[in-house]
Amino acid sequence: MAIRKVGVVGCGLMGGGIAQTCAAAGLETVVREVSEEFLRKGMKRIDAFLQGGVDKGKLTAARKAETLGRLKGTTQAGDLADCDLVIEAVIENIAEKCKLFAELDAICKPSTILASNTSSLSIIEMAAATKRPGLVCGLHFFNPVPLMRLVEVVRTISTSEATLAEAHAFAKAIGKTAITAKDTPGFVVNLLLVPYLLDAIRALESGLATREDIDAGMTLGCGHPMGPLALLDFVGLDTTYYIANIMFDEFKEAKYAPPPLLKRMVLAGHYGKKSGKGFYDYAAKATKA
Ligand code: CAA
Repeated sequence: MAIRKVGVVGCGLMGGGIAQTCAAAGLETVVREVSEEFLRKGMKRIDAFLQGGVDKGKLTAARKAETLGRLKGTTQAGDLADCDLVIEAVIENIAEKCKLFAELDAICKPSTILASNTSSLSIIEMAAATKRPGLVCGLHFFNPVPLMRLVEVVRTISTSEATLAEAHAFAKAIGKTAITAKDTPGFVVNLLLVPYLLDAIRALESGLATREDIDAGMTLGCGHPMGPLALLDFVGLDTTYYIANIMFDEFKEAKYAPPPLLKRMVLAGHYGKKSGKGFYDYAAKATKA
């Protein structure tokens, strides 16, 4: 694998998780945020996750220190210039992402692979903002990044064979299993996951069963680690609403149409875990009120 140094743009939940995973796998990693405040917050989250691993006996304090030692935080885009791979995990807004890709294209060395962690936006649109479309691909990670084993490698109609091979080698090097998907909204996982999550909301909305019984049905009946309503809270209702709308716009199929209850909850600010309330209540220490 030619990738020795990785850059990550955005140190939120996804970007921070990606940066942590790369550093833990032994790669020199630099993560960029727009402000010192966001960077501090992101680094704190990474530190807490690694400490959680130490507390659980999953890694030693020395491994934690080594990982943090390989991870550099910055607010300077120029620090990404000599990275072999840069993965962006900024806000899901196509205009912002295209602007960032054009900026990275101007800053990074000619051989740098540019990747997006988007879950639903068009990678080719981002590639078109650069002069290196053959070196652009999607690398879609799953939350929580350090624990979820999958990466979707997204290939556009312009992605080169060499870039695809490097992306797969990178995923393997950081301990993930990669699958390849075409550049269409939702790729493989969200194409199947989103209609399932929306159906769970429809089931609740129609009074089929309680939230607890819907979730117990899928955890105990199908062996899923979380029921669909708990997973919606975990992923974020706003995020799911956003992805569903993009998929509905593209495919015009009713199964991707966000149900009214989802829209109402998003309008009310009930985004799930991150806002303290979704299908369950997270405000109190005792969750799932
Ligand atoms: N460091 C290292 N290991 C840790 C850790 C840490 N800080 N925290 C937890 N772990 C380990 C645990 O030790 C445990 O390991 P073992 O299985 O070897 O015992 C494992 O991780 C699971 O942790 P927990 O037992 O503490 O937690 P859990 O069993 O409740 O699992 C979960 C938590 C992994 C989130 C699980 O509930 C799960 O897989 N949920 C589904 C998540 C999911 O579907 N994510 C994808 C969402 S969709 C998406 O992200 C894409 C998109 O575009 C929207």
